[in-house]
Amino acid sequence: MTELPFDNSTRFAGKRVHLGICGSIACYRAADLLRAWRKLNIHVSATITESAQRFVSPMLFKSLGAMPVYESMFAPDEDVFAHLEPGQHAHAMVVAPTSADTLARLAHGNASDMLAAQALAFDGPLIIAPAMNPRMWDNSAVKANVAVLRERGAHIVAPGHGEAACGDTGFGRMADLPEIFLAVLRALSPQDMKGRKALVTAGPTREPWDGFRYWSNPSSGLMGASLAVCAFLRGAEVTALCGPINVTGALFLPDEVRRCAVESAREMFDAAQTLWPRMDMGIFAAAVADFSPQSIGQKKFKKSESPEGFTLAFHPNPDILETLAHSRKSEQKVLGFAAETVSTMQELLPMAAAKLKRKKADVLAANRVNEPAAGFCAPTNSVAVVDSRGREEIWPMQSKADVAWDLCSWLSQF
Ligand code: CTP
Repeated sequence: MTELPFDNSTRFAGKRVHLGICGSIACYRAADLLRAWRKLNIHVSATITESAQRFVSPMLFKSLGAMPVYESMFAPDEDVFAHLEPGQHAHAMVVAPTSADTLARLAHGNASDMLAAQALAFDGPLIIAPAMNPRMWDNSAVKANVAVLRERGAHIVAPGHGEAACGDTGFGRMADLPEIFLAVLRALSPQDMKGRKALVTAGPTREPWDGFRYWSNPSSGLMGASLAVCAFLRGAEVTALCGPINVTGALFLPDEVRRCAVESAREMFDAAQTLWPRMDMGIFAAAVADFSPQSIGQKKFKKSESPEGFTLAFHPNPDILETLAHSRKSEQKVLGFAAETVSTMQELLPMAAAKLKRKKADVLAANRVNEPAAGFCAPTNSVAVVDSRGREEIWPMQSKADVAWDLCSWLSQF
């Protein structure tokens, strides 16, 4: 399973999810979803339809921590009100994979098996991840069922494109697991950023000096990606401006986050300036190069052209955060960072306060880039946070997902 920005969050511990699994070749993938939610200490109960039990055993899901695991409505040792249980306890219900048959049952309010009855008795957020043959997915009966469920507020995680097990190609295979994983986390998150448009900058920039080489830094983009995902989970409509990342998988963003790839500081600045007037908030987490080297041509610079070495002049780049924050409307909110090299967390506070003031941010988080666990590429971060109302705190080392979560909480108070 792809590494996710949020698979080490501690902010969902104690939440309860009910997982329905239907008969489909994709049902073995539900085991990975279960593991991912369990890793976050989410309590997961499950219902495996009788068709699904022909593909996978309930024992697999029990062994991975689902509790209880329902197998059928009239199993001898089943509680008589088991079909009402998830409705009383779960904060979200997800059916992954959802077969065409269960989709029809859900759309029509049919309660003829345990899963359909449980869904009928559940009035919380319902997430549906269909999986079926592409011709079935194209059928107008299925389309009508999907439309009905959408209209009633169910979240459909649309299937992806590819070759089905039968050899047919088209849309029908169950969505990628991170999309389903995050759709459920979104249903479990407070929607304090709902309806707000957020611009997030993430990752490094690359400043070319010949046609093939550049000046850059080792930012993984993980802090920015965690913030983009966090704002998305909390209801924002997110546009992420991403510098080029080398580390595969470090910058996973769900399909619903609009992703714009840029290379240089200048490109990031131009894109940010164009987008900014439509935004309600800006989250500036990119490690933007403050200076760019002069370019010495579009060809590869040959050793023979300067065997004694050479000198490059650097010119300053515009400060994206500072420029946009200074030109903002009063309702636009701004979160920035400060990368500093100091020996103690305490020293960060006055530096963060000075940068917050200079850049006109609402919230600013400073970290020690000389601390390996809090610098570029680390999965964790420890920050000193200040805001424009004079609040200041030093946070302990925690995952970047948790740092992002708490920073969004600070920002959404503005
Ligand atoms: N930033 C930006 N554009 C730049 C440089 C920085 O948007 N050209 C943003 C970063 O995304 C971060 C904040 O400004 O949110 C602070 O970046 P940092 O590198 O700590 O500070 P600088 O402004 O570059 O100042 P200095 O190098 O003097 O510490």
